[in-house]
Amino acid sequence: MAARAWWRDGVLYQLYPRSYADSDGDGTGDLRGIIDHLDHIAWLGIDGLWLNPTFPSPNADWGFDVADYRDVHPDLGTLADLEDLISAAGERGIRVLLDLVPNHTSDEHPWFVEARGDRAAPRRDWYVWRDPGPGGAPPNNWLSIFGGPAWEPDGATGQSYLHMFHPKQPDLNWWNDEVRAEFEAILDFWYDRGVAGFRIDVAHGIVKDRDLRDNPPVRTGNGDHEHYRELGQVPEFSMGRPEVHEIFRRWREVGARRDPDPVLLGETLVHDLETLATFYGTGDDELQLAFNFPFFDAPFEAAALEPIVAEIERVLPGDAWPMWTASNHDAVRFPTRWGEGDERRTRLALMLLLTLRGTPVLYYGDEIGMQAADVPADRVLDPAGLRRDRDEPGRDGARTPMPWTAGPGAGFTAAGVEPWLPFGDLAVNVAAQRADPGSVLHLVRDLIALRRADDALHAGPYTRLDAPDGAWAYRRGERAAVALNLSDAGVVVPGLTGRVEIGTDRARDGDALEGAVALGPWEGIVAIT
Ligand code: GLC
Repeated sequence: MAARAWWRDGVLYQLYPRSYADSDGDGTGDLRGIIDHLDHIAWLGIDGLWLNPTFPSPNADWGFDVADYRDVHPDLGTLADLEDLISAAGERGIRVLLDLVPNHTSDEHPWFVEARGDRAAPRRDWYVWRDPGPGGAPPNNWLSIFGGPAWEPDGATGQSYLHMFHPKQPDLNWWNDEVRAEFEAILDFWYDRGVAGFRIDVAHGIVKDRDLRDNPPVRTGNGDHEHYRELGQVPEFSMGRPEVHEIFRRWREVGARRDPDPVLLGETLVHDLETLATFYGTGDDELQLAFNFPFFDAPFEAAALEPIVAEIERVLPGDAWPMWTASNHDAVRFPTRWGEGDERRTRLALMLLLTLRGTPVLYYGDEIGMQAADVPADRVLDPAGLRRDRDEPGRDGARTPMPWTAGPGAGFTAAGVEPWLPFGDLAVNVAAQRADPGSVLHLVRDLIALRRADDALHAGPYTRLDAPDGAWAYRRGERAAVALNLSDAGVVVPGLTGRVEIGTDRARDGDALEGAVALGPWEGIVAIT
């Protein structure tokens, strides 16, 4: 049996600090606001919080352009506020993880300011510089995720620097040992302050091909290549290089000096599960958790999702532990994407996330089935949404303020204050759902409580059970069984006995099962025998 660890048994909660709660009435969420709402998070039964970037940043990419890795963005508060948050969360048994951005810094980070000034600057080599090609062409063919070439000519020294994202996000050079040492010191800086781990931004991409070879074109009809159609090339040399594993092995050693070990969650944006599994190393020498984007990106169909779960069960090394998530700050929220606005589908997805073998990561608002918000064009702030070469809405719709109440300011900010991003649908809010035991919020809380109370549900092995087309059933350990109907037709799932502990339709709670369960469209149950 695998070693127990808080992050294996528990549930994580991702929170976008600018949008959780505004304590000082300036329209932007802050750390004090989070402290004020820790009781909600504790009531829900969460074990760990992942805070999206909290560092000082000019916000060209909303905190993912870091100007100082050892401080807090003044919009969010101070270092002392973050320390207070860590201790107030700790008093409630909740650990805090930060979002580390090692692929790039802000162009306003003092390291880059120094580096760009002079070819001989001590930190010049902390970034990736090359002479332009013939006629001032970019040094190679790499394209930026945010559009255009990944190279920016820099006037002062006549060379270009690499930026896989925004031009204000110069890529660090991970072939430089000083960069590696600096980040190990940053990890320790935060571990000393009680941070329990990190989500690692662009974990798959921080090391680049040493020779900066050109990326190959997308080939039509190649399944893998299809993922890169929008980018326009396969990032074979600009991301996903094998040397990245050296970094994570090292970071794991740095963490192993602490007790308990901090947890590293990678944003591992890869499209096949064998590659995903490599980020776990041997199972205990690299990342403890790696985000599963094939699952995240799959349609909400049993025939699409079940094989991903089966394959992850097969390919993960040793004691490695899966992770399940369906919303984040970069994608359309799942109650919209998977749920299509149908609350039955949202409930079913939550039951799935909270009963699979692995650590679930909920995104703030998932617990009330918060939908993606429509953000009008004149309120768009995300650099991906501001691109002129593409008509894309961007990611703001997943980052709007938490609706705590339906009243003025939504309990997020003071009445009459315009929030930094507009509110979505305030009819879906925490206060209303707290008052309704049949709500999505109570379903999530009850599923988390059941998962915590029952060893089979948080630690038991996953075994698929027979189920009709469109449905998905599995056992966890000896005693727990889950049956989910991801279809518009009623189904009967055979082979189930015991008692329904929780149904997505709460009227089913307590039903006795005598050999089978009939499920209506988009209905699911968790039974204990
Ligand atoms: C990651 C983040 C995303 C950000 C990008 C660049 O994908 O999740 O929000 O824009 O990295 O840091």
